[in-house]
Amino acid sequence: MTGKNLKRGDSTNAVWAAEEGPFPFGAAVMPIVNAATFAYPDLGSWQRVATGQATGHIYSRNSNPTVAVLEAKMAALDGTEAATAFSTGMAAISSILFALLSPGERVVSIKDSYGGTNVLFEQFLPRFKIAATLCETTDHAAIEAEIARGCALLYLETPTNPTLKVVDIERLAQAAKRAGAVVVADNTFATPFNQRPAALGADLTVHSATKFLAGHSDVMGGLVSGRAELIAKIHHFREIAGATLHADAAYAILRGMKTLALRMERHNANALAIARHLAGHARIDQVFYPGLASHPGHAIAARQMSGFGGVLAFTPRGGFEAVRTVLDRLQLVQRAAHLGGVATVAGPPQVTSHVELSAEQRAKAGIPENLIRYSAGIEDAADLIADLEQALATLA
Ligand SMILES: Cc1ncc(COP(=O)(O)O)c(C=O)c1O
Repeated sequence: MTGKNLKRGDSTNAVWAAEEGPFPFGAAVMPIVNAATFAYPDLGSWQRVATGQATGHIYSRNSNPTVAVLEAKMAALDGTEAATAFSTGMAAISSILFALLSPGERVVSIKDSYGGTNVLFEQFLPRFKIAATLCETTDHAAIEAEIARGCALLYLETPTNPTLKVVDIERLAQAAKRAGAVVVADNTFATPFNQRPAALGADLTVHSATKFLAGHSDVMGGLVSGRAELIAKIHHFREIAGATLHADAAYAILRGMKTLALRMERHNANALAIARHLAGHARIDQVFYPGLASHPGHAIAARQMSGFGGVLAFTPRGGFEAVRTVLDRLQLVQRAAHLGGVATVAGPPQVTSHVELSAEQRAKAGIPENLIRYSAGIEDAADLIADLEQALATLA
């Protein structure tokens, strides 16, 4: 669970952090330990582990050797003290909230958090008498004013899903510190390669590992990293609530993370090239990408991110029919509710991030009905641009 922040470059860290070994049987990689439980030769040695006098594992809902390596790697990449792993990103997010909040407390967050997170704030937390105030995402003064009114937890996400709004983590974390609130940042879109919320003042960083961290669209997982004292509480909740990550999934995520730096370089470059190509295109109304100088959050993004990420969004001219035409014509995309894979993925929020919302609610949230979210994969940028061109050419 505990990681050390090795002072090495991102690519070196992605490969080596927490995986220097030695591993059982002299294996070159951490094996998948598919054990539900761990057996001891005698009661004394079992007792010493169970009471924390010796290190070891008791039962895989509580801890597992393969999962523990993934947790240590996450902490190292995020530059935090510790991490704990979950079965999905939503399990990680809901566990943070249910582990740390009590009835009568209040969360301050943004309107543009991921759709599932929004549902937690609006439907589930109120049932436990925990209020969530969702502020205009880019109105920093309004968010600061809400924080100053008193809150237990500030929950941020940047860039946001799917309209790529940017929030100043450092500025809002300072306001939260003054109010004594815990700061949580969803770093799924950025990954530690592009942005480290902990260095900007966040107490906890949460990731859907299903996306860029794993990177191959073949596994689900969630990770939370941050201050050891908070991670211990969240980990304890996981032990009891049981949304533990399986060792098989931990292995797949670990394998993906070894190429995180390499992949993110290409995701960043492809998304930037495509966003530049589409900006000002005759058949596109708007392009949403924080790497464009015209993006309202570009200055903040340039300060707090080292790359702008692999996801962009755009609105083809011609309403939802244009979305249908373009999506159906694209050849180098997976039409799927997903992002962050090596293959390009595209879809409209109606069937992806905001499937739970009505058309009216999406309009209220500022999500255009003709928006396409486009997660640029690691293919050749020229091929992706040519594919977009042939699809856009069919629009009237
Ligand atoms: C920003 C963000 N956070 C959290 C999640 C939830 O992650 P998962 O699908 O792994 O539960 C997603 C999923 O799309 C996401 O995009």
